[in-house]
Amino acid sequence: MKRTIVAMPGDGIGKVVLPEAIRVLDAAGFEAEYVNGDIGWDFWCSEGNPLPQRTVDLLAEHKVGLFGAITSKPKNKAAAELDPALRDKGFVYYSPIVTMRQHFDLDICIRPCLSFPGNPLNFIRKSADGGFEEPKVDVVIFRQNTEGLYSGVEWTNPPADVRAALDTHPRFKAFRDVPGEDLAVSTRIFTRKYCRRIVTAAFEYADKYGYKSVTVCEKPNVIRETSGMMEAEAAEAAKRFPHIQLWSTNIDAQMMWLTKNPEDYGVIVAGNMFGDIVSDGFAGLVGGLGFACSANIGPDVAVFEPTHGSAPKYEKLDPSIVNPIAMVLSACMMLDHIGEKEKSDRIRTAVAAVIAEGKVRSYDMMKLAGGPDVFARGAATTQQITDAIIAKM
Ligand code: NAI
Ligand code: MG
Repeated sequence: MKRTIVAMPGDGIGKVVLPEAIRVLDAAGFEAEYVNGDIGWDFWCSEGNPLPQRTVDLLAEHKVGLFGAITSKPKNKAAAELDPALRDKGFVYYSPIVTMRQHFDLDICIRPCLSFPGNPLNFIRKSADGGFEEPKVDVVIFRQNTEGLYSGVEWTNPPADVRAALDTHPRFKAFRDVPGEDLAVSTRIFTRKYCRRIVTAAFEYADKYGYKSVTVCEKPNVIRETSGMMEAEAAEAAKRFPHIQLWSTNIDAQMMWLTKNPEDYGVIVAGNMFGDIVSDGFAGLVGGLGFACSANIGPDVAVFEPTHGSAPKYEKLDPSIVNPIAMVLSACMMLDHIGEKEKSDRIRTAVAAVIAEGKVRSYDMMKLAGGPDVFARGAATTQQITDAIIAKM
């Protein structure tokens, strides 16, 4: 059966890397039809909506999306770039990614961080004898994607009834006399249903792919209620997976252990903000933005994207210098999701072979400052990297 995939290039380098991933998917023999989904800055400017309803409809119909990256800008810039015909008509810019995650309830965010042997960007650490060691990192972060500190329930100068409600908590005493305009409150809301879904997804993944541990990375000693709920649900889920160890770390300590013993961790599960932080931390150990892939999975729809943004400063460079691997690995996650693991394995093996060989490297892998001169200094173009991956397959 031929699948239909909603391809949403978005802005900037999203438009560069998405077609590269499709070339690799084609070469792997993945038979699909790609329908274009409009998303991003151009549609904000021309229509007052960076995620037009027609794109939402396409995702609802076809269930699987491949997404490049979008540009977002602060409120005043967004207003200034809106088509003059649409100004003062009540259009407000809102991130289309957040809208998409909320609309389709894409609550499970998966961010694998795997080191490829031969990648010059891999983390190394000094060993006790003065030499260096390069620990193998194979960590998969499960980040709750829709709640927590990013739920958007926040105020500066909270309304009187909110203040009154806060005042019922004994600990609010310390803030009682702060004038409204000097008081900012961002809520960290966790619900049992979504804690349960994310920890269950983490255990199921560990089980399916043979990871020996699931680590809850929160801060239950201080943020007792929300982190506490995540921990309690993890302990419940763990009972169904007795062969997988349940570990618990605090986010601050985890960031320290990141560089001390990253090889010890397998699956890590966290709320929205700590998941965001810990996944960037681990991504930095395995090559950074050029390698960081992700999946956003909901009950019905799933969207796969590199974690990098639109890198506007490189958007106009022709040929392009950016690394397509993060996007290609995101496409592999899509293949895993729809049961095409054999094809994703082939692609990952080819990516690993290109990296191990070290002949074709993007500017970031060569640790160069980005710019048009990187080719003269030996860096490959985006397209050449894709070609090399395809050739290995
Ligand atoms: P960015 O991720 O676009 O770029 C930061 C830097 O990382 C780039 O200047 C470049 O040096 C490097 N980089 C990014 N992708 C790369 C790749 N594939 N290969 C090699 N190097 C790469 O983040 P930045 O500059 O903070 O934001 C630019 C725009 O992207 C903003 O408008 C921001 O709002 C948006 N953004 C969108 C995201 C998304 O679509 N998911 C995520 C992050 C930012
Ligand atoms: Mg982030």
